[in-house]
Amino acid sequence: MPPSGPDPAAPAADAPHLPVLWEETVAMVDPQPGQTVIDGTFGAGGHARLVAQRLGPEGTLVVVDRDPVALAIAARFATEVPCRVRIVAAPFAEAFEALAAEGFRADGAYFDLGMSSMQIDQAERGFAYTRDAPLDMRMGMGDPGAATDDDVPQISAAEIVATWDVPDLTRALRDYGEERYALKIAKAIVREREKAPIDTTGRLVDVVTGAIPTPARHVGGHPAKRTFQALRIVVNDELGQVDRALPAAWDLLGVGGRLAVISFHSLEDRRVKRFVSSLLRGCVCPPDLPVCVCGQEPQAEVLGKGGVVPAPEEQQQNPRSRSARLRGARRIAVPA
Ligand SMILES: C[S@@+](CC[C@H](N)C(=O)[O-])C[C@H]1O[C@@H](n2cnc3c(N)ncnc32)[C@H](O)[C@@H]1O
Repeated sequence: MPPSGPDPAAPAADAPHLPVLWEETVAMVDPQPGQTVIDGTFGAGGHARLVAQRLGPEGTLVVVDRDPVALAIAARFATEVPCRVRIVAAPFAEAFEALAAEGFRADGAYFDLGMSSMQIDQAERGFAYTRDAPLDMRMGMGDPGAATDDDVPQISAAEIVATWDVPDLTRALRDYGEERYALKIAKAIVREREKAPIDTTGRLVDVVTGAIPTPARHVGGHPAKRTFQALRIVVNDELGQVDRALPAAWDLLGVGGRLAVISFHSLEDRRVKRFVSSLLRGCVCPPDLPVCVCGQEPQAEVLGKGGVVPAPEEQQQNPRSRSARLRGARRIAVPA
C-alpha cells in the first residue's frame, strides 16, 4: 500500500526558499532509483530533497551552488537524505565543465535559475531594493568570513556603479534590465557619484528614482527593479553562466538523459529555448544538395513543449513563481 500522509520530501510552508514548479521539475527529470542526477542550483534544496528520495540509497545526487549560505544547507542536507551526495562549491558553468573534464556521466541535470529567497531576505547581501544595505549582489560572497571554492573574481554592484562610464552603464541597464530610461539613469549615476559614493541600495534607489520622469515612476513595478536586475546579472555573469553551463550539462548525459531548466525572465528563457531548439535540429545541409553530407541528427526530444508554467494556485501561494517557465529535453542520440 502506498504511504499515506504528507510527502516527507515536501517543502515546509516556512522553508527559507519555496521551490517553484517543484513536482513538475522533478517529473521532468524523472529520477529513478540508483541513478545519478545533478542539481545545478541547490539553494535551500527544495527540489533536491524530492530528487534524493527518488534516487534512494543506491543513487547519487551532485549539488552545485556558489553561495556559502546554500552550501551550508547542502552540508546538512547530505546527512539527512537517503542517497549519496556530492557537493560542488562553484559557479555552475565551472562546476559542469570540471565534471565533464573528469569524465563524469549523469542521467539527469536541472537548474532553477536566479536568486533564492534567502539571498533577497538577507538585506546585507544587497539584492533587495526595498531594504537599505551595502550594494553588493555577489552570490558567491555570502556571509563575512565564509569561504567557498568560488575563485571567479566577482566585483560588487557598488564597484560597477563607481567605475563604469555612461555608455557601459546604459548598455547594461538596457540589455539586462530592459530599462527604458537607461541613459538617464546612467547619467544620473555618473553625476551623483561625484557628490558622494553610491555604495548602498538605498542611495542607488534614490538616484534611480530621481532619474526617472515622475509620471513613469509608478509604472511597471518599483522604479529601481530593472536597474537592480541588470546589475545582478552583470555582477554574477548570469547569462554567460547559462550559455556555458547548458551545453556542458548536456554533454554529461547519455541517451535517455534529461535536462530541465526553470528561468524567471525572458533573457534567460530565450537562451534556454534557443539551446533546446539547437538540439532538435537535424540535417543542416543546403537544400539543393541531393544527399545529406553533414550527418547531423536531432539529439533530443523536447519535454514540456512550449514551456511549463506554474498552476494558478502556485502563482497565488508563491508570487515569486509568476514569471517562471520550465523547459526541458530528453537525449535521444549522442553524436558519433
Ligand atoms: C532559485 S535558487 C534555487 C532554489 C532551489 N531549487 C530550492 O528549491 O531551494 C537559485 C540558487 O542558485 C544559485 N546560483 C545562481 N546562479 C548560480 C551560478 N551561476 N552558479 C552557482 N550557483 C548559482 C544561487 O546561489 C541560489 O542558491
